[in-house]
This record gives sequence, structure tokens and C-alpha cells, in this order.
Amino acid sequence: MDERQVPGPKAEAWIQRDGANISPSYTRSYPFVMERGEGVYVWDVDGNKYLDFTSGIAVTNTGHSHPEVVRAIKEQAEKFLHMSGTDFYYPVQIELAETLNRIAPIEEPTRVFFANSGAEAVEAALKLARYATRRPHILAFRNAFHGRTMGALSLTASKVVQRRGFAPLLPEVTHVEYGYCYRCPFNRTYPECDLACIRYIEEELFQSEVPPDQVAAIFVEPIQGEGGYIVPPPGWMRALRELCDRHGILLVADEVQTGMGRTGKMFAMEHFGVEPDIITVAKGIASGLPLGAMIARKSLMIWPPGAHASTFGGNPVAAAAALATIRLLEGGLVENAARVGKHMKARLLDMKDDHPTIGDVRGLGLMLGVELVKDKETKERAKDVRDWVIQRAFEKGLLLLGAGRNVIRFIPPLIIDEETADKGLDIFEEALTEAEQALL
Ligand SMILES: Cc1ncc(COP(=O)(O)O)c(C=O)c1O
Repeated sequence: MDERQVPGPKAEAWIQRDGANISPSYTRSYPFVMERGEGVYVWDVDGNKYLDFTSGIAVTNTGHSHPEVVRAIKEQAEKFLHMSGTDFYYPVQIELAETLNRIAPIEEPTRVFFANSGAEAVEAALKLARYATRRPHILAFRNAFHGRTMGALSLTASKVVQRRGFAPLLPEVTHVEYGYCYRCPFNRTYPECDLACIRYIEEELFQSEVPPDQVAAIFVEPIQGEGGYIVPPPGWMRALRELCDRHGILLVADEVQTGMGRTGKMFAMEHFGVEPDIITVAKGIASGLPLGAMIARKSLMIWPPGAHASTFGGNPVAAAAALATIRLLEGGLVENAARVGKHMKARLLDMKDDHPTIGDVRGLGLMLGVELVKDKETKERAKDVRDWVIQRAFEKGLLLLGAGRNVIRFIPPLIIDEETADKGLDIFEEALTEAEQALL
């Protein structure tokens, strides 16, 4: 795609108005001001067209404004926009709960709690885990991202800026190391390590600091998202499940980013053949309308009326969008994510051989990450290269996002085909080559 002068004059004007009116806490890495979107493409207010490899952070899994999702939204909006689902009943919310219970990768019957966001789904899981076990303690992982409300933030440990200034956070939370083999926190090598990071929990933490019978749940992202697109090694999730089973601890899979077909299966936990007790979803569930859900084994849902609820959770328009989204995912998009994701990963792995800064390529389906380094031996993080590539890709017509400290993520809508994926990867490679020439 051609290069463009960005931001254009209209974008510039909007960004000034934004700065004068909107909280400075948002993380904007480059000045894209959206006018409209269609499928895998978006346009800015100055008329520039971009290929979107961000899906608005893994949300627009069916592409921008998919006609079937838009139709479902319009039809529901004409009937009614809201009738608090916590006090009354409406079919679309019940149908969505039935659908989620059908697709959830948990054999025991499940029940759904509806929220409005990922963080709210995590809050619900946190509260239910404590309520159902009557245990106070929670384990989460370093580099984890579970959201920014106070409970969810207490589980988040991906960037200090997210936590600084907000203490005290929830007590009774301990962070342990994830299966991040590229930078093993124990300086070991898989599989000789014999999953040292999981063994540490039982052999050290549970002996010295945290009584396992006080632990309600372990919260885990099946692939760590904001923390750097980190995929745990084979056997890791199963070992975690077994650890939970030995101590009566619930396993909560936070599938807010990995869920809804993104990884080439409806839920990423299906890749590991491991059943969680509770699942949280949001982001891609409704193609862009705000919705979150916490799905739990029925036997855990023992809290009484009034224990937890939300005025907007399970909003009928969002629920209609979710039903249309799931129909599309089951109708071929999950498979497409697996197929195109495989193609993209193979190309990225090829690029790894040609580029001195590509230290690691990882991910499943269309949730792919590339970790950029200054030197493949020392693995010194190349944040400057990462930021340069993202900026240049933007100027060349490709929207990318970072993750972690030095990772670029590739999360296009699941409708993308191989040819379009290649166009985006060509732009990425061009930008990377320039960055390597300029910065190494
Ligand atoms: C795994 C995970 N959990 C929770 C959240 C929080 O979701 P939300 O921003 O909708 O509150 C995110 C957001 O990036 C996420 O990736």
C-alpha cells in the first residue's frame, strides 16, 4: 500500500479535541482516527485505508460491521434496547446463555453470568471462586493481564504502570511464574526443566507461604495476551489442572482475548485438552458490542439472588450480536482462523531466519506474536525496533499493536484470507527491514 502522511488534517484536529476532553490514561501508540470499517479494512477520517491486524484488540473477530451482526443488532434494537436482565427475563439473553453453555469446553452442565466487559467477567469469576470455595487466596501469573478494575487489577501483573499509584490492591493474591520458555524465569530449558515453574508452586510456595487449602482459584490466560503473546509449553496446562485437583483449587481460564475462535478453536483451552472450572469471555463475543460472560460449572453457581448482578450485563442488543457472532464462528470462521493462522505463522517463521531481530514467533490460530530482540543470543529486548515497526506499518497502511515490552501481535479479523494476510505481512516485513537498517 502507498505511504500516507499521518495524521492527516482532520485526524490532527480530532486528536486535539480528544486531548482536551478525554482521560490521558488511554494508551494510544499512533494517531489512527477511525471513520468507518468494513471486513478487514478500516478508513480514517482523512480517507486513508488500512488493513486492520488489531481487530480493535481482538474484538471484531467477524470483521468490521459484518452484515449479519449488523442485521441482528438492528432487528433487536427495533424491538427493545434494554430491560434489566437481572430483574426480568428476555429470550435473547436466555438463548445466548444456552449457546454459551453448549459451546463451553466443560463437560459438566454450566451456567452463565453476564457482564459488560472482560474485567467485569473476571470480577465475577473472582467473587464466585471465593464464594463457592469459601477460601480467600488467589494465584495468578506474572505478565498476566486480567483487566483494570480493582479486583481484576490485583490479578494483573503485566506492566507496573497499570498498578502504580493504586495500592492497596486486593490482599491474598500471589503471582507465580508462567510457562514462558523463551525467557524461562528459572533459567531452565523445556522439557528438561520438568515444568519447574509449576513444581515451584507445590514444592516451594505451598510449603513456605501459601497454604494450598486457602487457595480458591488459579487464574490463567491459556495464552498470555497483553503480557506478550506467550504460549505455555506442552503439558503445562495439564500439570496446572492436576495441581488444582490435588488441592481442591478451581482453575479459571481467562479466555477474554483467546476465546471466541481467535486461536483456531472456539476456546483456547481446547488446544490443551484441559477443562477449566470457570471461563471468562468478552472482547470477540459480540463483534464489538460491549458484553462479557463468566461461565462456570453448575455445581459452583451456588450464590443466592442478589449476591452478584449488573444492570446492563447481557444487554439484549449485545446478546443478539453475540448470537450472530457465534453463528458465524461456528459457520466457518474458527476453521478459517486455524487455516490462515497456520499460513501466517509459517511465513513469520520463515522471516525469522532472514531477520536478526526476530527472536521468537509464537501463537495459535490468528493470535500470533513476534518477539523482537537486539541479538538472538543475548535476547536483549528491542523495544525501539518494535515501536518503529508499528509506526512505519501504520504509515504504510497496516494497523498493528504491541504486546508485552517488545512483542508485536498479529490479530486480524477471523474472516481474513491468505492473500490479504500476505499483504499485511509484506508491509510488516518492509517496516522491519527498515527498522533493522536504521536501528541495529
Ligand atoms: C485476558 C484478558 N482478560 C481481561 C481483559 C480485560 O478486558 P476489558 O478491557 O474488556 O475489561 C483483557 C483485556 O485486554 C484480557 O486480554
